[in-house]
Amino acid sequence: MVILGIDTSCDDTAIALIELKNGQIKVKSNIISSQIKIHRKYGGVYPTLAKREHEKNLLSVLEKAYPFKKKNNDLEKAKEATLKKILIREPLLFKKITAFFKRHEVPAIDALAVTVGPGLEPALWVGLNCAKALSLLWQKPIIPVNHIEGHLLSNILAFNKVKKFKAKLPAIALIVSGGHSQLIVVKAIGDYKIIGETRDDAAGECFDKTARIIGLHYPGGPAIARAGAEIKEINKSLQIDLPRPMLYSQDYDFSFSGLKTAVLYDYKKRSKTIRNSSPYVQSMAKAIEQAIIDVLVKKSLRAVKDYRFKSLIVAGGVSANEQLRKQLKEKAAWSGINVLFPPKIVSTDNALMIALAGYFRKKEKTNSLEQVTVKAHLRI
Ligand code: KG4
Ligand code: ZN
Repeated sequence: MVILGIDTSCDDTAIALIELKNGQIKVKSNIISSQIKIHRKYGGVYPTLAKREHEKNLLSVLEKAYPFKKKNNDLEKAKEATLKKILIREPLLFKKITAFFKRHEVPAIDALAVTVGPGLEPALWVGLNCAKALSLLWQKPIIPVNHIEGHLLSNILAFNKVKKFKAKLPAIALIVSGGHSQLIVVKAIGDYKIIGETRDDAAGECFDKTARIIGLHYPGGPAIARAGAEIKEINKSLQIDLPRPMLYSQDYDFSFSGLKTAVLYDYKKRSKTIRNSSPYVQSMAKAIEQAIIDVLVKKSLRAVKDYRFKSLIVAGGVSANEQLRKQLKEKAAWSGINVLFPPKIVSTDNALMIALAGYFRKKEKTNSLEQVTVKAHLRI
């Protein structure tokens, strides 16, 4: 089965192609066009701007994701009218997609998998409407995909066969992204139960917001990791103690907004000279990163032990963090727990994980386009 995946849930325009045959995975392409530079000046993602950029970029990303041959196709008037209706809010995409269809062959794919949620609503709609338009033009079914399930299953891409991943189940999954921090019991692919989640900010959001306080660029996670790694020697006067919220609470929930407040207090009490100095920014970055890691490591390993599982699956943008990977692996090894991480390239948003998740949701494929809709707050 060959699936084309589309993800426009946040600030990456992503399209990928995957082939699965008897549980054997073949990655054909994984194209991501990032909008980071555009959103940077706002210190975060600006939804309507994200929508406009997706609309501009989707077709050029599509051309890179599939080796289309040139072919002349006719577009019937009735079909064009339906297409116009689907893309009523994306007039630029309508123009681009009709021109594209008329000059390119219909690809040899079995389905289109597209993220319908969770994510930024205006951004999600562009991806879904693009998928609907392609579905109509190419006569291929659509499979609606949950972005969080996509992240979780991105771990399969660390193996070449699905069965190697299945052998690690049941497991606990720790999903840590810009919008989510969840602990999930994964009994099987498709059988999930959320056992804990953040009560306020997500882990990635905490990286992003605290980075902004100390003057680092969006996205905050990689910026904080880089700044923290630059520390040469520890300056005693700059030793910063940050709280580890809910570290010992008996549930599996998280809370990161108190950490953000503590960072703000410390920042405000320093003189301008100190807080603008590299040693302060580096020490603070290291302290923030470590506080977040301590909570994630402790709570996720405790969940694995409580459930008497053997594996922990980590996914979402924060799973790209080197220190988290290193420390989690070390601590898990002491307890005989096996930790799975996705390949770095699919840790942050991508469409390969969406194409893959679509494969496991193939029963949900549909040709009745009106029924498929965006769900910005969709849960796993
Ligand atoms: O999964 P993702 O790409 O998008 C969402 O679905 O939200 O996650 C983005 C988040 C951002 O908050 C970003 O700061 C964080 O992942 N992130 C990192 C790293 N790379 C991305 N956080 C810590 N360390 C990293 N290396
Ligand atoms: Zn994501």
